[in-house]
Amino acid sequence: MAKTTVSLIKADVGSLAGHTVVPQPLFNVANKKLAEAKKEGIINSFYVFNAGDDLELLMTHDKGENSSEIHGLAWDTFKAGADKAKKLKLYGAGQDLLKDAFSGNVKGLGPGVAELEFKERGSDPIVVYAADKTEPAAFNYMLYKVFADPFNTAGLVIDPKMSGGFEFEVLDAYENKTVTLKTPEESYSLIAIIGTTERYMVSRVLRSEDKEIAASSSTTKLALIAGQYVGKDDPVCLIRGQSGFPAMGEITMPFLHSYLVAGWMRGSHWGPFMPVGLKDSKCTVFDGPPRIVALGIQVSNGELASDDDGKPMVVDIFADLAFDMARREALELAAALRRMGEFEPARLGPEAMEYTTLPSVLKKLEPRFKAAG
Ligand code: F6R
Ligand code: MG
Ligand code: MG
Repeated sequence: MAKTTVSLIKADVGSLAGHTVVPQPLFNVANKKLAEAKKEGIINSFYVFNAGDDLELLMTHDKGENSSEIHGLAWDTFKAGADKAKKLKLYGAGQDLLKDAFSGNVKGLGPGVAELEFKERGSDPIVVYAADKTEPAAFNYMLYKVFADPFNTAGLVIDPKMSGGFEFEVLDAYENKTVTLKTPEESYSLIAIIGTTERYMVSRVLRSEDKEIAASSSTTKLALIAGQYVGKDDPVCLIRGQSGFPAMGEITMPFLHSYLVAGWMRGSHWGPFMPVGLKDSKCTVFDGPPRIVALGIQVSNGELASDDDGKPMVVDIFADLAFDMARREALELAAALRRMGEFEPARLGPEAMEYTTLPSVLKKLEPRFKAAG
């Protein structure tokens, strides 16, 4: 049987009122472009949504991962969105399109990508995560909980199809190298590296037993591409659920509570991750707090399962009172951190600040430093 690919490709191509939210005209551009591509048979189905100021293109097709046709389609769609944003003089128009020309793959050009290619099972539920005002390593903690923590994922203990554990592929963003670690055997070593969120990020998770792909996460480091701060690489992640993978409720379980991630205002602060429904997917206070949306989808015969009118059916998972406690915790953490202003640990450490505008502030002071006696 042919394989199906789910591609989630995102970029900030301009937003309304600073870096707050993707406005309707940009949705219109993206929906039109992807509807044309569907008609031409390039993709089978699509759903356009936003995480704060990031435009998210969720597509299904049969072209595999890293397809130049699919990445080219996303690039052209972002370009068209950026043109519209420029016309409207929206903020940060074209912000994440760091290069002028497309060269076969959007990786390294600015947009973030998560893709899953798999042979369809009897039924294929997937959780689609998209976050704003944070970075890919923000998913390290969540992915560890989902795939390696039996206190989060009951299936690791109860379901024999999962007891062989999972393998984590981790990217060292400084050295551009990957390492694969197997849980539960190497859990401690895994935490030793992915706990360093500044440098290491989980790129993929495979089921150990049969090497079946379980999760895929975007791993761009915009700052490392551009050499300066150009907005955080607001990340996306796709996770397969049920029947030998974590249940949907085990995948979303880490968001019963909030936890701290790097990003928020000017990409320079620790902030609480706040799970929100699509209607609250906009970054407001102190440009945040960092927000995450979760969509539940079913992949069905190469398409997103659709209703009678052909509209993809999507569950807006965090638009639920079960996540109220995490939201309240997030706001309490936000208040505590913001009370500290620009003092560490509320502000990120010096390595992360290298890529912000802080070094140019410090440069001005340089000539005034005298040797201490
Ligand atoms: C964070 C982000 C915003 C901006 C901030 C300043 O990823 O995008 O917090 O850094 O609003 O933006 P500029 O420098 O464009 O005025
Ligand atoms: Mg922006
Ligand atoms: Mg963003």
